[in-house]
Amino acid sequence: MGSSRLSDLLLLGQGSDLKSERGVSCTGELPESSDPDLVKRAFAAKAALGNRAMVLGHHYQRDEVIQFADITGDSFKLAQAAEENTTAEFIFFCGVHFMAESADILTTPNQKVILPDLAAGCSMADMATAKQVDDCWDALEKIGVASKTVPITYMNSSAAIKAFTGKNGGAVCTSSNATRAMNWAFDKGEKVLFLPDQHLGRNTAVLNLGLTLEDCVIWNPWKTNGGLSDEEIQRAKVILWRGHCSVHGRFTTENVNQMRSKVPGIKILVHPECQHEVVSIADVVGSTEMIIRTIENSPIGSKWAIGTELNLVQRLAKNFPDREIHFLDKTVCYCSTMNRIDLPHLVWAMESLVEGRLVNQISVDSEIAKYAKVALERMLALP
Ligand code: 13P
Ligand code: SF4
Repeated sequence: MGSSRLSDLLLLGQGSDLKSERGVSCTGELPESSDPDLVKRAFAAKAALGNRAMVLGHHYQRDEVIQFADITGDSFKLAQAAEENTTAEFIFFCGVHFMAESADILTTPNQKVILPDLAAGCSMADMATAKQVDDCWDALEKIGVASKTVPITYMNSSAAIKAFTGKNGGAVCTSSNATRAMNWAFDKGEKVLFLPDQHLGRNTAVLNLGLTLEDCVIWNPWKTNGGLSDEEIQRAKVILWRGHCSVHGRFTTENVNQMRSKVPGIKILVHPECQHEVVSIADVVGSTEMIIRTIENSPIGSKWAIGTELNLVQRLAKNFPDREIHFLDKTVCYCSTMNRIDLPHLVWAMESLVEGRLVNQISVDSEIAKYAKVALERMLALP
């Protein structure tokens, strides 16, 4: 649909600070929905579907979409919500493709998951293909370390990678339970293969488990043997896949230092997908859900610079006008794939269903789903 492309174009020109009357600075603003009738139509379609449909919304979604979510959450909370609701026949997933796949795997066979725009993927998830991961595992087998290696894959990965993980004794993790997942893996084996986000893997291993940077190596899927010698692989405790988030990877230590010198007393709050150097000097680190809780529980008048997706930071700035909330780097853009889900797409998907047409269903192959479910359930069962 045209409007998400229009938004993308408009976004390119929006790096300026929006100053509210209180002097809060937060970058950019999405344009108004192109058709004001869409809000009315979305309410009408949702009412027509009633209890047959549930809308799940990730915190990075636009406000125009999040207002229709029955449940909002980080990727862990949304996976739990999908598993717990066994009655809604249709689940509109306002998030990205890997999240919708996980919802399909965790719901019953009678429930159908809909992603309003199929172009809503995740560049990080695309950085590990099933073939590349199989090749990596073959190499680990050849060196003789696969049997003592436990794979952990971040939720931000395809169902095929989750299935690989489930088949090989591993589990899925999200940013809110990566430490528990990695501890669980080290109880079972001597090494962890962490996919596909090197930053979350490194931050968890070094900052939360007390391993050293030297304990971690990076597997580059584009190089023979991951670009590593057999000895480097044998020595490593954590093998980090060379993937990253194109949004969070852009926050820098300079952003942190500039904020601290510009706004005395400011606290830096970042997502663990940020680079290790940034996370190491931040005041608070956590998943999207934990970022929200931190601001909710912070004292009135406190000052925060937040390094995560812009829709969430703007929402926090709007909902908590009595805190001073800044975006950590005003040149970083929205997550363009999260932003693909806009009101025109949601209305189209809901109205189609009202008219009896199921569009954009996400349906994971049953063999892949079987093993991916093992890995997802291991995550949901983590202590
Ligand atoms: P959460 O697990 O914190 O929801 O993050 C998901 C994500 O895609 C972050 O970029
Ligand atoms: Fe993927 Fe990064 Fe967007 Fe999250 S913010 S969906 S990790 S590209």
